[in-house]
Amino acid sequence: TDPAGSPGIGTDFTAVAPNTRDEVMIPDGYEQQVVIRWGDSVFADAPAFDFDNQTAAAQAKQFGFNADYAALLPIEGAPHKYLLVVSHEYTTEPMMFRGFSPDSVTREQYEIALAAHGLTVIEVQGHADSGKLTPGFGKYNRRITGTTEIGFTGPAAGSDLLKTSVDATGTKVLGTLNNCGGGVTPWGTVLSGEENFNGYFAGEATDPTIAARHKRYGVGKVDIPRHWERFDKRFDVAQEPSEANRFGWTLEIDPWDASSTPVKHTALGRFKHESAEIHVTDDGTVVLYMGDDERFEYMYKFVSSKKIQSGNGAAARRHNMTILSEGTLYVAKITGDHPTQIDGTGEVPSDKGFTGTGQWLPLLEARADGQSKSLVEGMNAAEVAVFTRLAADKAGATKMDRPEDIQPNPKTGKVYVALTNNSNRGKEGYAGPDEANPRNQNKNGQILEITDDHTGTSFTWTLLLVCGDPAAADTYFAGFDKSKVSPISCPDNLAFDPYGNLWISTDGNALKSNDGLFSVVLDGPNRGETKQFLTVPIGAETCGPIIEENRVLVCVQHPGESDTATTDNPTSHWPDGGSTQPRASVVVVWKKNGGRIGR
Ligand code: FEO
Ligand code: CA
Ligand code: CA
Ligand code: CA
Repeated sequence: TDPAGSPGIGTDFTAVAPNTRDEVMIPDGYEQQVVIRWGDSVFADAPAFDFDNQTAAAQAKQFGFNADYAALLPIEGAPHKYLLVVSHEYTTEPMMFRGFSPDSVTREQYEIALAAHGLTVIEVQGHADSGKLTPGFGKYNRRITGTTEIGFTGPAAGSDLLKTSVDATGTKVLGTLNNCGGGVTPWGTVLSGEENFNGYFAGEATDPTIAARHKRYGVGKVDIPRHWERFDKRFDVAQEPSEANRFGWTLEIDPWDASSTPVKHTALGRFKHESAEIHVTDDGTVVLYMGDDERFEYMYKFVSSKKIQSGNGAAARRHNMTILSEGTLYVAKITGDHPTQIDGTGEVPSDKGFTGTGQWLPLLEARADGQSKSLVEGMNAAEVAVFTRLAADKAGATKMDRPEDIQPNPKTGKVYVALTNNSNRGKEGYAGPDEANPRNQNKNGQILEITDDHTGTSFTWTLLLVCGDPAAADTYFAGFDKSKVSPISCPDNLAFDPYGNLWISTDGNALKSNDGLFSVVLDGPNRGETKQFLTVPIGAETCGPIIEENRVLVCVQHPGESDTATTDNPTSHWPDGGSTQPRASVVVVWKKNGGRIGR
């Protein structure tokens, strides 16, 4: 037998029980280490983290807030050495500054927050006999923040929709914000999705057409509690109505050149990007899958016109870094084939339910020669790129239960979608359930499995998991014995281990226990077997999972977070314990004595 190609192998560990402990809980026989925390030095000359005397200059040289996505890239020729690339999704000022009040936010607090966003690239040294990772200072180390210069590529680059009073060219922007999930490209760069960018922009555009377009993205709330508009008019929509159009993109970062300018790829559309994960077809076409994480939003894919060039030299990387600016952007329409709608009020899911077909509806053909074509009536190419949600509305896409990570399985090519939850499904004035989103007021989410004709426009699908308490009638684990699975709620990030098992991290567990990381067997008699590998501390979400033969790495984001959490009453003191303030961190877990994960 070939263990590397045998799903099911790699999930042999004792499941961690649901709990509400303020620590990372791992299976017996495993060890863990915090790799890097908010505020830890990224450069040798970074000041030591001082919670009570933080400065923007210090934060710009330190690990950012709220670690979310993580990538671990081996450094060629350096045994056990890696680049760790991590995104910093957002800041929670009441947990960063004592006595913080949005009404009296200071310029220093604003600048610290900007510097705590973005991404970190840091060299880490691994070890031959464990999964441990030790951060170090090297030539690749880099902080990208809310003020780093970033370029645009694709159909909207240079268009009026991206021009502002400080950038009359519409080709460059300061910073990246709300970097959520991401992906590693086969050519060694890192992609990062800008998700809830609307929360940084206050005020309303005076032009009603512009205001209506902004509204589709939640931009234009008059009172945004960050009040960044007080310090830079680019965050004031009334004064700079196009600045918000310069966020909500997928970024590509070349971590192998610390002086490189990252780019935002407008051919990939503008929405609340969660993740960006690639499947390469036999002929070298790149197919990128992306979710738009909001209730009733859509699933997208991009099919490249260019083919991938093999090798990891600088010339191949330069060519490959142009791939994501030429191709076709599609949005998904889903059709159920179950005879009845499953409304969660009585019908028990069965093997016969939750399957159907789907279509990829073309929105935009992006070309490098300036001849990009809109495939949606009444919108030009730049408009489709910038207002992709409006184009997808016109095309008739299917409204999903918050599409988070979308991940192609490197072993089988099947594509998995984490649909995290949807509190509004079926409420008055909102769409009701359909077969792929089968529950009203969906609290626990589901996992969709797509068999895609990657470069084509048709697919079939099935629900792998309908998450929740296995004892509840409205849950489904691909027909596996529900008495033998771990409860799972609110799937968010997805990853695969070396054997082809799916791993799921969760955010927002609605089952009154902490969030966690789960393995799911996909093939064979144990298909649907779901086991909790770890749980994270109080108030935290689990994200950025990486599952390697000898280590599991997760980001523990927003420990202690709640609607009312401040520095006075932290509900978590992780990772430093005692009466310390919580700090989002990266954690690595390995098997004692250097054993293989799950074996
Ligand atoms: Fe940033 Fe959709 O999670
Ligand atoms: Ca997420
Ligand atoms: Ca992923
Ligand atoms: Ca989430």
